[in-house]
Amino acid sequence: MKITGIGRGIPDQVVTNHQLEQILDTSDDWIKSRTGISERRILTEQNLNELASNASAEALADAGLSGADIDLVLVATTMADYIFPNMASMITRHIGANCPAMDLHAACTGFLYGLQTANAYLKAGLARRVLLVGAEAISRLSDWNDRGTCILFGDGAGAVVLEEGDGLKSMHLSTQADDRVLFMHSQPGNSPYTKGHSHDKPGLTMEGQDVFRFAVSQCEKDLRTALELADMGMEEVDWVLLHQANSRIIETIKRRFNIDPKKVPSNIHRTGNTSAASIPLLLWELYHAGMLKPGQTLALSAFGAGLTSGACVMTWHKDAPKTLIPADDLLPQ
Ligand code: UT7
Repeated sequence: MKITGIGRGIPDQVVTNHQLEQILDTSDDWIKSRTGISERRILTEQNLNELASNASAEALADAGLSGADIDLVLVATTMADYIFPNMASMITRHIGANCPAMDLHAACTGFLYGLQTANAYLKAGLARRVLLVGAEAISRLSDWNDRGTCILFGDGAGAVVLEEGDGLKSMHLSTQADDRVLFMHSQPGNSPYTKGHSHDKPGLTMEGQDVFRFAVSQCEKDLRTALELADMGMEEVDWVLLHQANSRIIETIKRRFNIDPKKVPSNIHRTGNTSAASIPLLLWELYHAGMLKPGQTLALSAFGAGLTSGACVMTWHKDAPKTLIPADDLLPQ
C-alpha cells in the first residue's frame, strides 16, 4: 500500500498546563519536565465523530477521491461516541460511501494495526482504496481527579487514504497481555443478574513507571525487528515517527539508536498523547510543513494498552502540498 491522502480534525479548545493548575494539584513545570507536554486539545461541544469525519473528508480531497471511491473504512479508536453503531459507519454517511466499515481497537497502537489490516485487504484484492482513521477522545475516559494520568492525554483525529503500492516495507506487531498496568473497565450496566462487577474508580488506571519501562524496551525491540524485516539500518531512515506519549520516552529511543535528533519530529508539546491519532496527526504536520519528500523512508512505532505495540518501515510517495504551514517547533532547534 501507499498513502495517497491525509487529513486531520482537532478540537478548537486548547487546554494549557497553566489551566490545569487551576483544577489540579500540579504545575506547568512538573508536567513539562516529566512529559514534554505544554498544552493539549480537548473536545467540548463537538463529538469525536465530527473530528473523524472532517479528517476523512480532508484526506479524500487530498487524494483527489470521493467517498464512492473507497472500498473499506477502518477506524482505530478506543471509545467512539457510540458503542454501536461503530464510528466507521458514521463516517461512511459523512463521506457518501456504502462500503464495509469497521472499528478496530488496539489502544495507542491502533493506527499501526489499521495500516496492517488495510494492507492485507489491498494485497488480498478485497479493496483498492481504504480510508483509515485514528480517532480518540481520551479526555472522556480520563479520571480528572487523577493528576498522574489526566494531564497526559489530548483529543484528535487523523486520517489517511491508502491505495495499492509498494510503500510498506515491513510491519511488526506484538502483544504482552497485561490488565494491571494500563486498563479501564467497561460499564457494568444494570442487569439484575450481574453480581460483583461495579468499579469504584472512574476512568483509566495506569502504573506510569511500568508503562514507561515497557514503552522504551518494546519500542526499541519493535523498531529493530521492523528494520531487520525491511533489511535496512536506522541510518537509511529519513524520519522516525514515534508515538507521542512522553518526550522522555522519545529521547530515550533517540539515544538507544543514536539517531540524529533532526530525524525525530515531535508535536507532543502541543497535542499531548492522542493515542491512535498520535502518529497520523504528526504525519499530517510533517506533510503540511513540506518536510516529507517522495522516496523518503519513514519508521513508525507505537505502544499502548494491551499491552500492544508495533513498528513499521514505509516509503513516502506524495509531493508536498502547495501551501505550507510553518512548523518550526517540530524539531529541536
Ligand atoms: O500511550 C501509552 C500511555 N502511557 C504512557 O506512555 C505513560 C508512561 N509513563 C509516564 O509517562 C510517566 O510515568 C508519567 C508521566 C505518567 C509519570 O512520571 P513519573 O516520573 O513516572 O512520576 P511518578 O508517577 O513516579 O510520580 C512522581 C511524583 C509522585 O509524588 P511522590 O510520591 O514522589 O511524592 C506523584 O504523586 O510526582 C507526583 N505526580 C505529580 N506531581 C505534580 C504525579 N502526577 C503529578 C502531576 N503534577 N500531574
